[in-house]
Amino acid sequence: MKKISSLTELFVEQIKELYDSERKQQDVFQKFIKSARSNDLKKLMLKIAEQTDSQVMRLEEVLELLGEPLRGVECKPMKELLARSLSLSRTSANPEILETSLIAAIQCAKHFEIAVYGTLVAFAESLGDNESADILARTLAEEKALDNELTELAMESINSRAKESEPAAYAF
Ligand SMILES: [Fe+2]
Repeated sequence: MKKISSLTELFVEQIKELYDSERKQQDVFQKFIKSARSNDLKKLMLKIAEQTDSQVMRLEEVLELLGEPLRGVECKPMKELLARSLSLSRTSANPEILETSLIAAIQCAKHFEIAVYGTLVAFAESLGDNESADILARTLAEEKALDNELTELAMESINSRAKESEPAAYAF
């Protein structure tokens, strides 16, 4: 593996990982849309999938600005997070728990992305690449807003539906 010796190289490498990460999510989110039972979650999942498509295009813009090919570098943390989310969805015994698991899994992915996009906005600013910083900041704001929407949906309906499916013996 090639050693990274400058902030620019580190920035480019991380952009390529994010590109891979967003594209991996595109595939998995399509499966999640099919798994979601309730209209409110399905609607939010569709919005997340649409925004992920735009986020992929924004990363392509950044790669073009950097003069890099549109090729990703495997993002291992996202691969693991998505594998975990698929396994949670497979092991959910009822639709209520499945939907709670989906939200929890997507939020893990969103939190990872918020951390990485935040770092990369700072890298772009430090490198004086304001154009990339602005593009990445738009996605960062989108990811934060989606995370809030997921929390709201979980707290307003999905978690209580899961709680209602709780066997009486385990209910608090
Ligand atoms: Fe994303």
